[in-house]
Amino acid sequence: MEAITIAEARNHVGLPVTLKGWLYNRRSSGKISFLQVRDGTGVLQAVVSAGDHPDLFEVANRIPRESSIVVRGTLIADERAPSGCELQLTELEPIQEPTQDFPIELKEQTPGFLMDHRHLWIRTGNQVPILRVRDCVFRAFRSFFHERGFIATEAPILTGTSVEGTTTLFAIDYFGSPAYLSQSGQLYLEATAMALGKVYWIGPAFRAEKSKTRKHVTEFWIAEAEMAFVEHAGNLQLQEDLVRSIVTATIAERSPELAQLGRDVDRLRDEVAEPFPRVDYADAVTLLQDAGHNTVFGDDFGAPEEAAISEHYGRPVFIERFPVAMKPFYMKRDPRDRSRVLAADLIAPEGYGEIIGGSQRVDTEEELLSQLRESNLPIEPYEWYIDLRRYGSVPHSGFGMGLARVIQWICDVPHIREVIPFPRTLNRLYP
Ligand code: 4AD
Ligand code: MG
Repeated sequence: MEAITIAEARNHVGLPVTLKGWLYNRRSSGKISFLQVRDGTGVLQAVVSAGDHPDLFEVANRIPRESSIVVRGTLIADERAPSGCELQLTELEPIQEPTQDFPIELKEQTPGFLMDHRHLWIRTGNQVPILRVRDCVFRAFRSFFHERGFIATEAPILTGTSVEGTTTLFAIDYFGSPAYLSQSGQLYLEATAMALGKVYWIGPAFRAEKSKTRKHVTEFWIAEAEMAFVEHAGNLQLQEDLVRSIVTATIAERSPELAQLGRDVDRLRDEVAEPFPRVDYADAVTLLQDAGHNTVFGDDFGAPEEAAISEHYGRPVFIERFPVAMKPFYMKRDPRDRSRVLAADLIAPEGYGEIIGGSQRVDTEEELLSQLRESNLPIEPYEWYIDLRRYGSVPHSGFGMGLARVIQWICDVPHIREVIPFPRTLNRLYP
């Protein structure tokens, strides 16, 4: 008999089925054993009584948690069960039985212990629904751009230059010459946008972040887009449409997972229903000062400031037109006020912080050279990038989204370590 998945089980009620998975947990009451079987698509209860099947009952009561198993039986409807049914067990075939207790208990354990066992922790509790939402967010990002005629492309991970400042570069030895792990694919996407028009990618980004926060990791998957002939306002509109589309698609596809996570889905839906405000950086500073923060013009916003802004608006909000000195060399200055750049950060609601950074890019050779010099960057490694302004330069814009932070917000998970399969932080390279 061909095996089905637990997600498909409700379509097979009344029928005999085979399932392949693992013993997640067990409860026994006297002469009845209730097995929680998991297979990655869900958890299903399998029931066997000692009276009906004494040998089967003995095996069901003996095998330890996380034994890999094949089970057979008949599905009967049970509307209270998340899977919509339960299995009346008739066969149970262990594939491998652990010889030690599974380290992850189904109760509170310390974050350090869980992180040391991340390779096993991901099988349990909220970790499976979070990773299923993650899959959906990645796919929704790609579908959004594919449907709008953007071309998927790639950027190198080994690079000779910095994008987002030199203080968070991971340097490596490249056959005797210095090289860096990419902080963002942006500069290369600018080149492919001049070849293909509108491009996007999802790829790894590395930041030697010394900060220990619940929103920073040293390796994360960045989702970026770059568009020829698009200016600042069009860039923001696209980002807004993208975020709304990802949230809507995830609610539609992964509501059982969001329910398991206890996510207030109505709140999430409301947050993206209305247009996202565009707030001038200077006005954001005033807003913070009025709310009692010590922020002054020119300051970066930390977690408390971002939380205050998100609380004030209750939905995603763009902070735009930052002072030049706050941002990297590639951003185009605002022609109306050259002390500001045509850039915006998108701040997520509920204190989840900056989820997108983007800007219109410098599009003349002269301005790019002077901004590289102002940032104390060498010209030579950027010659190829300057070429993009020498051969058919056009107004162009783009942005990068931190997928992990988007997933944190959608799942309402306070710490970034839970939304990445194997997070990398200041103190962690294991497992
Ligand atoms: O704001 P950032 O640094 O922008 C760039 O890298 C641009 N070159 C993107 C572009 O225009 N193509 O990073 C983009 C986003 C941030 O808004 C944040 O969500 C996320 O990446 N991010 C991090 N996420 C987790 N851990 C970190 N250390 C992060 N640093 C940035
Ligand atoms: Mg940023």
